[in-house]
Amino acid sequence: MKVLHINASPRGEGSHSLAVAEHFITKLSAQRETVVDRIDLFRANLPEFGEVATGAKMALFAGREQTEEEVAAWAAVRAVFDRFASADLYVFNVPIWNNGIPYKLKHLIDLVTQPGWSFGFDPEAGYSGLLTDRKAVIIHASGVWHSNVGANFGSDFSTPILQDWLCFLGVTDWHNIRVQPTVLTPDVEAVKAAAFEHATELASAF
Ligand SMILES: Cc1cc2nc3c(=O)[nH]c(=O)nc-3n(C[C@H](O)[C@H](O)[C@H](O)COP(=O)(O)O)c2cc1C
Repeated sequence: MKVLHINASPRGEGSHSLAVAEHFITKLSAQRETVVDRIDLFRANLPEFGEVATGAKMALFAGREQTEEEVAAWAAVRAVFDRFASADLYVFNVPIWNNGIPYKLKHLIDLVTQPGWSFGFDPEAGYSGLLTDRKAVIIHASGVWHSNVGANFGSDFSTPILQDWLCFLGVTDWHNIRVQPTVLTPDVEAVKAAAFEHATELASAF
């Protein structure tokens, strides 16, 4: 099984979601053969998806020949997609940032979500995901937000956007592990212990 671990926290050893992701992957690897690739989003230096890359994309839509610069930019985007598409299982660890996802994760989403690569479109039938037969595990962390707080403690737009995006790509078999809350709690170690236990259980079910 090829595992692609996507780390969306820049906090290294201080990251709660990363610790749970590492635990999940260790447990999974202990029970079945895995090859683990890792994208540390805050250190990966992914290609820009700016003027040139969007120009390359729109050239395809318009049936215009890409410029030399656009060809190179599009090849760099394709290389990220190929790495992404080669996985059987995605393990994301994602902190909630300002009620949503960290911007580096949105960058990855904008790189790999391309027509004909990760999704198809039919004028009658609409969109269809092309990355079927893959699974995902998402480890969510947040300092304040958790399922039992009211609207005055913020929102979780991270879970819906990630689930909607994965389904859009055809990845419909996903599981959530929650390390929440990590700040608004007298005992973050207990919060983490519960998440580790959930990760152990989930790993044994794969
Ligand atoms: C830029 C930034 C924005 C944050 N925004 C929120 C937020 O909207 N809601 C929340 O509950 N926690 C928020 N937090 C707290 C983090 O979600 C929390 O510290 C979490 O544990 C981070 O995950 P990590 O430990 O894996 O890095 C924010 C933290 C940072 C650095």
